[in-house]
Amino acid sequence: MELIVSVIAAYLLGSISFSYVVARKIMKIDIRQHGSGNAGATNILRVLGKGPAILVLSLDIAKGIVAVWLAKWLEMMGFLPAITPLGEWEGLAPAAAGLAAILGHNWPVYYGFKGGKGVATAIGVVGSLVFFPAVYVGIVAILVIVITRYVSLGSLIFAVFTPVFIWVTKDYYGHPGPYFYLTALLGVISVWKHRTNVQRLVNGTESKIGRKQ
Ligand code: G3P
Repeated sequence: MELIVSVIAAYLLGSISFSYVVARKIMKIDIRQHGSGNAGATNILRVLGKGPAILVLSLDIAKGIVAVWLAKWLEMMGFLPAITPLGEWEGLAPAAAGLAAILGHNWPVYYGFKGGKGVATAIGVVGSLVFFPAVYVGIVAILVIVITRYVSLGSLIFAVFTPVFIWVTKDYYGHPGPYFYLTALLGVISVWKHRTNVQRLVNGTESKIGRKQ
C-alpha cells in the first residue's frame, strides 16, 4: 500500500510540466503548440531562449531527484518494503518512484496527458540511482550534442547506453536489479517518444540547437 502511495505521489510530482508553466507565465503560450510541440527544455530553448530553458531543465531534473530521494528515504525509514511477494528487491521503491515521475512528465494528468519526452527527468532519476554510469554516459551524450548540435541524438544515446553500461559493469558496481530494469524500460520509452526525431535524424531534417528554424 505504501509503495502504491509513493508511486502515485511521484507520478503527480512528475506531472508538473515546468515547460508548460514557464511558457504560459512568460509568453502566455502553450509550448505544445510551438516549435517541435514537445513540452521540454529543448523546445523552450527553441521558442523562449536560454534562460527559461536552463530554468526548465533544472526544475525537470529536480523533480526526478526529489521523487527518487523521497522513496529512498521512506525505504530507509522502513515505510516502503524492499521485500515483495516476488522476493527481496532492494531498490524497488526508488526505481518505481523514478519511473512514475518520468511517466508523469511524459503523460501528465494535469495537461491532458500530453507532456514531454522524459529525458531531463530521467537525468535526475538515473543520476540519483546510478550516479557514475549516469555521469559517464552523460558526458558522452553532452559531447555528441556539442559536436552535432542534435539534442535528440544526445538524449537517445543517454537513454539507450545507460542500461547497457549498467549491465556491462554490473559486477563492478553491483547496482540493485530494479535499477537495470528501470533504465532498460526508460530506454524503450525514450526511443518511442523520440520516434519522430529518429525519422528526422535519418532524413537529415532534425533541427539543430543554436540555429534559426
Ligand atoms: O529531450 C527532448 C529532446 O531530445 C528533443 O526535443 O523538442 O527537439 O523534440 P525536441
